[in-house]
Amino acid sequence: MSLRMTPPLPLVFLLMIVGASRTEWSVKYNQQKICALNGSTVFMNGTFTHPEGLTVTETFWFIDPVKGVEPTDLSKDPVYSGRVKFLTDDQKHFSLKLSDVMKKDEHRFYFRIITNEEKERWAGEPGVQLRVTELRVKAPEEVTEGQTADLTCKTTCSLTDPFIWYKNGHPLTTKTIKNNQLHLQTVSSEDAGSYSCAVGGSQHLRSTAHSLRVRCGFNMIL
Ligand SMILES: *[C@@H]1O[C@H](CO)[C@@H](O)[C@H](O)[C@H]1NC(C)=O
Ligand SMILES: *[C@@H]1O[C@H](CO)[C@@H](O)[C@H](O)[C@H]1NC(C)=O
Repeated sequence: MSLRMTPPLPLVFLLMIVGASRTEWSVKYNQQKICALNGSTVFMNGTFTHPEGLTVTETFWFIDPVKGVEPTDLSKDPVYSGRVKFLTDDQKHFSLKLSDVMKKDEHRFYFRIITNEEKERWAGEPGVQLRVTELRVKAPEEVTEGQTADLTCKTTCSLTDPFIWYKNGHPLTTKTIKNNQLHLQTVSSEDAGSYSCAVGGSQHLRSTAHSLRVRCGFNMIL
């Protein structure tokens, strides 16, 4: 009579399995999209967990996954070997340090974990998408005295560091800078010069310079 109250055996096993395996495979990246400046150094960071009872024997980063094929360790790829550094710690943090970023590094980067058990390997989806941009000044070549002018520091992806502007090689602190724009209010002959931009933390990676000429306005108060 009380037999009907007992859960079926497969369900009992299922509950035991779920209860016992406290940690599962997981790979979490701090950022899934990164915009980096050509020539800069980037970090791709994250954390991972794996089922208990396994020992991690190897970790590495890779790009361009092919279904059914064991990925290649990026540090063994001649294009990357001198520029990548893999860092991990006991707290399951991991990072990829990529130096001298270039346009051809625009890939999705994945973290790979290999354990002592042949079948227990993991690739962290969805990876980290890297975009690489340069800085380019977009501005008029000539402005008439008394007018306003906006200079824009163009990028092809969104950089998070603040923009810095230079005139004739010196940082500009007195002008209005908003996001990636430098605003020149009531242009005077003193605003003529060579302008370039950069972002904080990478001041050595400046845009090419842009020359701004100032044309004399007609003086009506003669
Ligand atoms: C990126 O910077 C390198 C120098 O570090 C330069 O040679 C290359 O032309 C730059 N890339 C582009 C797309 O301009
Ligand atoms: C990523 O980790 C490295 C050390 O592994 C650290 O120096 C860096 O600041 C971290 N960057 C971010 C964006 O979390």
